[in-house]
Amino acid sequence: MIMTNTTVKQRSLLGLKGMSQPELVSILDRAAYWDAHTEKQVSVLQSRFVANMFFENSTRTRFSFEMAEKRLGAEVLNFTSAVSSVEKGESIYDTVRTLESMGIDAGIIRLKPSGVLQELAEKVNVPLINAGDGNNEHPTQGLLDLYTMRQEFGELKGLHVAIVGDILHSRVARSNLWALQTMGVKVSFCAPNNMRADDMGDVSYISMEEALQADVVMMLRVQLERHAVGMLKSAEEYRLQYGLTEERAARMKKHAIIMHPAPVNRNVEIDDALVESPKSKIFPQMQNGVPIRMAVIERALRN
Ligand code: CP
Repeated sequence: MIMTNTTVKQRSLLGLKGMSQPELVSILDRAAYWDAHTEKQVSVLQSRFVANMFFENSTRTRFSFEMAEKRLGAEVLNFTSAVSSVEKGESIYDTVRTLESMGIDAGIIRLKPSGVLQELAEKVNVPLINAGDGNNEHPTQGLLDLYTMRQEFGELKGLHVAIVGDILHSRVARSNLWALQTMGVKVSFCAPNNMRADDMGDVSYISMEEALQADVVMMLRVQLERHAVGMLKSAEEYRLQYGLTEERAARMKKHAIIMHPAPVNRNVEIDDALVESPKSKIFPQMQNGVPIRMAVIERALRN
């Protein structure tokens, strides 16, 4: 099948900003379909080639995409920049064009810088799925987070989600904000002054005490690798002011849940004992990453 540029654009997933409510719901519904599917492997994407192009480290996203592709019967190519010609100075664009010229049908891409993915997607003729670009967006993480909340509460509309921590550097906070607001969810942020962002519209910053009263307390990883020197005085001080400690978690609402995109800095933004506590949905989030990515890849490739 030859796809037109419009079709390629429509099948790509660069971000959740601007995605309509029906489209979000259709992806979540299709993920639910795959979640309930007992057959481990199907041939829906037989003879379709998908390249996982990770220019930045990943465990969850990379392996759940690969799992999703293989469950759908696709042929999978894994590209890792550390063992590629990127190490010889080849650009991201030339790398993607190289794989495109070899005949891939779709590309999953994770990038360190923000703001280059849009331009890249306009230059290639295969659908691209954003697996996290800088601090811009991480759409499949946002979708799996919505899916996890819907699984827990049935309905998203009317929920209050407090996102706590390093908002400034968080593509997860951005993707969640755009999609949750579209779904009628109230989103609040809680962050130290030097980790707040001013590019995300009119979102209220609340205290840690107020955040504990939300239906979902979503903790973010302190992204030390993206910090300027001196941004974090000490891990212990951060934990005392903004960490979800056992004592704080005990003050959450009875029905409320804890989320975190992971990887987790245990005993910094969240106490070790909470990671696998009954309120925590951290591992179910990871589990939900597979059906969500199946739905997104299928959307990108199915005739
Ligand atoms: N949540 C997430 O994106 O994890 P990875 O960096 O391991 O993919």
